Amino acid sequence: MDERLKQEIEYWSVDQFDGDLKARHTLNLRHWDAIAPMLVHPLPPGPFCVVGCGHGGIEQKVAQVCGRGVYAVDIIEPKPRPPLWDTFEKEWPIGYYPGVDAQRSLPFEGYGAVFCAMVVHHFPDLEGFAATCLRHLAPGGWLVLHEYVGLPGLHASEKRYRLAQRLWCSLPIKYRLREDGTEQEHVRVVPDGEAEGYEAVRSDEIRPVLLGAGFEVVAERFSAPLTGYRTIVWGEHGIRRLNPDVDRVVDALESILMASGVLNGEVWTAVLRKPSEA
Ligand SMILES: C[S@@+](CC[C@H](N)C(=O)[O-])C[C@H]1O[C@@H](n2cnc3c(N)ncnc32)[C@H](O)[C@@H]1O
Repeated sequence: MDERLKQEIEYWSVDQFDGDLKARHTLNLRHWDAIAPMLVHPLPPGPFCVVGCGHGGIEQKVAQVCGRGVYAVDIIEPKPRPPLWDTFEKEWPIGYYPGVDAQRSLPFEGYGAVFCAMVVHHFPDLEGFAATCLRHLAPGGWLVLHEYVGLPGLHASEKRYRLAQRLWCSLPIKYRLREDGTEQEHVRVVPDGEAEGYEAVRSDEIRPVLLGAGFEVVAERFSAPLTGYRTIVWGEHGIRRLNPDVDRVVDALESILMASGVLNGEVWTAVLRKPSEA
């Protein structure tokens, strides 16, 4: 296994919510809210797959709303096993498949749809992923995406980075407190040259590679990252223990930075179709 994939597994295996699965789900369901209006009817037949479900994501909504059996896959095996997984499995037909590298293969052939929320921008091998989806989808099946397709590495120049910090530090202290009452001293906009290997690896190539591989656009929409992907990332504590008020302020700050051009990037929400003859 290559070094980058090892790092990815290590990074996502950490429980960033200290076992607070409710917080994790609230975050993930924001992606579902963006995707749901794009699902035109009739839905394609066959079971669905949710790629990169992590500690539990939109798979329950997909199962519930679409009325389908769902294969939920991820490269990581969360430890301890999220207790909600067992509830989901009882309530809805969801099977969890940890340890699956979606760039290589998926656990079934003939899916009606494959869903990806904030996952594909982590893949170095976009061509491998496109081929995997084409192989595992039924003819006419969908690839549904909600993905960051902006700059690779979420780059921000040093000047932009400093500006974001100044804006953050100018906010009243009450908007900078974490849930445990400690101060969040800075926001972290990944500066040029310091981008983590696992974020926005080839994000700007996602759309061209998938369309080049033969997928057809059924519906698509571009939006600012604030609705789906947080360009301003929390500092050394990652995204754990967000104070909901602070979370809203960060959203607002992010939109100001976006509108003023300090940050840039786009989220692509799309329903693509595998051609019937492919
Ligand atoms: C940003 S999180 C998104 C989690 C969830 N879908 C959400 O919307 O919040 C990215 C997820 O992709 C998973 N992932 C990364 N590389 C993968 C791969 N090659 N195959 C399957 N899953 C992968 C990570 O383990 C992680 O759970």
